[in-house]
Amino acid sequence: MIARRHFIALSTCVTLWMGTAVPTRAASILASQAETTRSVRASDGMVVSGTVHASNAGAEVLAAGGNAVDAAIATGFALAVTHPSAGNIGGGGFMVIRFPDGTTTALDFREKAPLAAHPEMWLDESGEYSRTKHHNGALAVGVPGTVAGFWKAHQLYGGQDWERLLRPAIGLARDGFELTDRLGRGLRRLVTGRGAAYEGTVAYFSNEGRPHASGDRLTQADLARTLERIALEGRDGFYAGETARLLVAEMERLGGIITLEDLARYQARERTPVQGTYRGYDVISMPPPSSGGIALVEMLNILEGYDLAAMGHNSAEYIHHLAEAMRRAFRDRAQHVADADFADVPRQRLTSKEYAATVRAEIDAAAAGVSAPSDITDVYESPETTHYSVVDRNGMAVSVTYTLEGGYGSGITVPGAGFLLNNEMGDFNAGPGLTNTRGLIGTEPNLARPEQRMLSSMTPSILAKDGELVAVVGSPGGRTIINTVLQVLLNMIEFDMNVREAVTASRLHHQWLPDRIRIESGGVSVATAESLRRLGHTVSVGGSQGIAHSIMIDPETGDRLGAADARNVDAVAVGN
Ligand code: GLY
Repeated sequence: MIARRHFIALSTCVTLWMGTAVPTRAASILASQAETTRSVRASDGMVVSGTVHASNAGAEVLAAGGNAVDAAIATGFALAVTHPSAGNIGGGGFMVIRFPDGTTTALDFREKAPLAAHPEMWLDESGEYSRTKHHNGALAVGVPGTVAGFWKAHQLYGGQDWERLLRPAIGLARDGFELTDRLGRGLRRLVTGRGAAYEGTVAYFSNEGRPHASGDRLTQADLARTLERIALEGRDGFYAGETARLLVAEMERLGGIITLEDLARYQARERTPVQGTYRGYDVISMPPPSSGGIALVEMLNILEGYDLAAMGHNSAEYIHHLAEAMRRAFRDRAQHVADADFADVPRQRLTSKEYAATVRAEIDAAAAGVSAPSDITDVYESPETTHYSVVDRNGMAVSVTYTLEGGYGSGITVPGAGFLLNNEMGDFNAGPGLTNTRGLIGTEPNLARPEQRMLSSMTPSILAKDGELVAVVGSPGGRTIINTVLQVLLNMIEFDMNVREAVTASRLHHQWLPDRIRIESGGVSVATAESLRRLGHTVSVGGSQGIAHSIMIDPETGDRLGAADARNVDAVAVGN
């Protein structure tokens, strides 16, 4: 048995497998370095997120007696300050919760279309579709949901004072923090690229007009004041009063359509999670307006009919069967899944074992299928989202994925309020009947309608078995999210990988159209890629897929094992 030592400093206690004693902040940094090769182990609580500041914020809430929902809220607000490319209060997302008694719920705080939205809103005067209007500028901004989502989660399930949960974020915004190389690079790109057109963005994210250098201190005084209003007034600190007035003023200045009424009417919704089973495990994931849970359970149901372990991890046979399941789940996603408050989504059928059996019968073990581009084709979805996982001392588990859509969203920062706005309207379809082979999609269910929520791929998920929590998983990555979560789960269940191995292993993606398997750099040998091509697949190898910050429970000790995905070098697991 490998000896473990415990580090205790201030209110936070970090346990690093095989580590040495260091104070809290240093412990987190050490955790970050060590995490590329192993998990962080803790006996009580664990937070795994994209920045050391956010993971610390959540872990400190846990150490002070907060539950996993409290910690998730503190982590989310801290990410809005320290991970501005995707952490946010100007965007939206999803939270899946599993309580210690095994019951589950989900919170939907996806952005919605403003009241003035309509399906043809991205056509220009000549009736031509404008990609620019759809994805950039003020018309691309959806009504934000994050603050309402965190507020609702707190009202329903939080335990600590709301104001306490915002304190770390307010401190980080007011006092500043040092820019990592990764964030420094991101901010330089923002203020010299798409953010350059917006005064607020340049003012808040540059060094008095000059791009920031890595190592600079980023202070965000107006964001701190916005967070203070939210701390004092709760939901109304964002959706009414000064913050709402500033947001709407910027929309009016830039030709946007979000009004005070849109903000006042925004409601986060509690939803019933999608639940599936796979070889005796329970899979709990996000329902519409995310497509994630339905597609994940559909793929697992299809794949349950094969002996994947015998095929071998990332063998040609394994990749072929995964790709064929992905092909069909993404076809169904495009045809059927949208905001279920507006569209009739056949959720029960798509997630049933019977339906999976009929789909499996279509799959040829010796030949690639064909994705007919008759009416459904590729649509761009940004990979810039962020996921974090939390488990508390009682075993409450929270899986959160939230987003601004593009990196730094629309690139518009609200002057006087200091937060970036999303460009999530780009996740609606382009317009009625606009499906074409160049990548537009115009199917009915996911068209922009007043107050509809745009279809998402975010897949915050939780795994349990025999009434016990097993793992908390999720990822950013646009449509690759669903396949990343699928593979992290299969790695754990089929290949007995620990959380570090499951998160690190190379991943692949197929999404119906384009009809191509994408495999991460170094993910397969030349011979395996050739075998796949002989089966009829188009294969490309390169890039990286997702950032799957995850937690697994050690079945023997009950310890929480956190793995920050090393695909984001700033990410950290902090336990106590
Ligand atoms: N904008 C990415 C997603 O919602 O899936």
